[in-house]
Amino acid sequence: MDAFQYWMDQLKPAPLQTVDHPLLVEKAIELKILRTDLVHPIISGNKSYKLKYNLKAALNQAAAGVLSFGGAWSNHLHALAYSCYLLQRPCVAVIRGEPELIAKSAMLQDIQNWGTTLHFVTRKDYRLRDESEWLAQLAVQYPNYYCVPEGGSSALAQPGVITLAQQLEQACSEQHWQPNQVWCAVGTGGTLAGLITGRTGNYQIIGVPVLKGAEFLYRVIKERLSADQKKSTRLENRWQLQLEGHFGGYGKVSPWLLDNIEELQNQLFCSCPDNALLLDPVYTGKLFSHFWQKLEAGDITPNSRVILVHSGGLQGRRGYGLDMAR
Ligand SMILES: Cc1ncc(COP(=O)(O)O)c(C=O)c1O
Repeated sequence: MDAFQYWMDQLKPAPLQTVDHPLLVEKAIELKILRTDLVHPIISGNKSYKLKYNLKAALNQAAAGVLSFGGAWSNHLHALAYSCYLLQRPCVAVIRGEPELIAKSAMLQDIQNWGTTLHFVTRKDYRLRDESEWLAQLAVQYPNYYCVPEGGSSALAQPGVITLAQQLEQACSEQHWQPNQVWCAVGTGGTLAGLITGRTGNYQIIGVPVLKGAEFLYRVIKERLSADQKKSTRLENRWQLQLEGHFGGYGKVSPWLLDNIEELQNQLFCSCPDNALLLDPVYTGKLFSHFWQKLEAGDITPNSRVILVHSGGLQGRRGYGLDMAR
């Protein structure tokens, strides 16, 4: 079988689950969760969509392997390393930091066990990861490797995330239900840009950046949109960022946030009890906590029909002493 098809066959479509909760009834809000965390136990969340066409291109080009970048808990590197393991292709992970991190990071241990080469660079060098000169030096060391930028947010991530928007809309029409708001956590903005590009329905897309001071993401996301979409003034009010949902900044987690995540996991009963909800403290935990705060404050317009995109990231729970699965 064709290697790319083999990889695709491992992935399931993301279920759209309905959430029941007394507060939703009180505020007259319908809530569903798009469970991209259930696409695959490891290549989970938005990663499978972002990687799809990057991996296809690497295989089509008969690249010697795939090389990418990230920190010691990168969900992107985790999904990429496992994908390369499945495809039996070499993978190089350029990691920000020192080899001592291996002992502290279950993620680095995983990817090393899957055969990925760990290439550590100083924080100073890591800042050069988009500079062509520095990349050319890496290419000498890893000739004919296919290079995927940090977080997987290359131009080829976009068509993959568009398929996520299509799956979301298909799941809605199968349930004869249309949202008017779709919320998702934002890091680099690649996923949000794909959702905006792929949307054909009449709903607003709300991004919640997990970084503090993320105004710059308005520019980054606009740049990713197609030329036609950039011209459309109608688009402006069809997506927005809520910049205050970062809970202290990237990777910052307070005891309150951890308790709140635990409470939401226990309280949000999905329509499929077998697929208990787990959230990660870096992305989805912040998205869900921010949405819930808005709901409690009465800031969600009554009769809204909302989808929260669960974008995975559960492997990162281990960085906070939490289990990856229930
Ligand atoms: C679990 C999870 N959710 C959301 C995001 C945000 O995606 P993006 O970087 O495309 O904005 C990431 C990014 O790495 C992630 O790992």
